Amino acid sequence: MNRKTLLLIKPNAIEHHHVGHIITILEEAGFRILRVKDLHFTPETAGEFYAMHRGKDFFERLVDFMVSGPNIALVLEKENAVEELRKLVGSANPDKREPGTIRHLYSEGIAQNAVHASDTVENVQREIELIFGDDSA
Ligand code: CMP
Repeated sequence: MNRKTLLLIKPNAIEHHHVGHIITILEEAGFRILRVKDLHFTPETAGEFYAMHRGKDFFERLVDFMVSGPNIALVLEKENAVEELRKLVGSANPDKREPGTIRHLYSEGIAQNAVHASDTVENVQREIELIFGDDSA
């Protein structure tokens, strides 16, 4: 089943007051907001969230950025949620950001890229459980 996904609004987007517009973009694209959480990562919880990147050269930079301020986690609902949200978010690579995507508007670089979207159905479940403690949206 692929009707649910997870988005994080990252510290740089919150600091620059882009939260309202990002939520408007999501709702105008047909996503329904099921759950919202004000999220404060610690180095341990950020490391667990990004466990698949542990050992990569950017891992510490990524964790430092994610603990640098609050994040907002949203559980979203739509048909083909994972793919639809990844399209709307756009590429993590600043050179490939497609016009009309959230990252095209608000990414400030490969780490400070405004938002995170789950990339597989398995990771949706894993990430929702890590952040919300259960998967019962
Ligand atoms: P996100 O979609 O949250 O998933 C993994 C994150 O790792 C990615 O967005 C970026 O924020 C970060 N990332 C990926 N590659 C790099 C890199 N080369 N340098 C710094 N951060 C990176």
